[in-house]
Amino acid sequence: MTAGFVIAVDGPAASGKGTIAQRLGRELGLPVLDTGLLYRAVGVLTERAGVGLDDEGATAAVAARLDPAELEDPALRTRGAGELASRVAVHPAVRAALLDFQRAFAARPGGAVLDGRDIGTVICPDAPAKLYVTATPEVRAERRWKQLSGQGEAVAYDDVLADIRRRDARDGGRDAAPMTQAPDATLLDTTEMTIEQAADAARRIVEAARARWERSRG
Ligand code: CDP
Repeated sequence: MTAGFVIAVDGPAASGKGTIAQRLGRELGLPVLDTGLLYRAVGVLTERAGVGLDDEGATAAVAARLDPAELEDPALRTRGAGELASRVAVHPAVRAALLDFQRAFAARPGGAVLDGRDIGTVICPDAPAKLYVTATPEVRAERRWKQLSGQGEAVAYDDVLADIRRRDARDGGRDAAPMTQAPDATLLDTTEMTIEQAADAARRIVEAARARWERSRG
């Protein structure tokens, strides 16, 4: 059972889920875990160690040794790191090695916000507030292209769109914790929204969920 007020924010790449999670955390005074960074770190460290990304045992060993201090590394924010993350994220043993850390974060007494792909379905199926944030691949590619360009990473829009489509297919098609909307999650399509509008919509959904959660606790 989830003790505190946990908010699960899932969805595909560049849907706005990370920004939404950060804002909800700030507004509600809850700690935020970007779970994508865990997979990004495993991908990057695996590559640095010269281990094959398809080697489930070796990538899981990297995941088991992961030091949360490593999540601050700016190298995790690059385009290449996203691709590496999605390749190691297909391995059940990698996902299992990262489970306890995520569940412990969610179990903080005051509650927490976690964003990822499988928070509402696998990590915190009891979360009282669940959002599934999405947008069309073209709009997400535009946002990701702007973000990468702003970080100084020169890349063509068409290549970013191809990355997004490939990652959607891999994340949604894998057997282990595939990216999918939990049956009790609220869908938030941000295609036509600014980030302000998306954050406002998310806040309203979470406020309603919080009121229901408080009533259910008497
Ligand atoms: O920021 P962006 O949405 O591009 O990616 P991310 O959230 O940092 O996640 C990178 C990759 O990690 C995803 O494409 C997934 O393959 C994987 N991931 C996952 O499998 N489960 C999670 N809870 C979070 C990320």
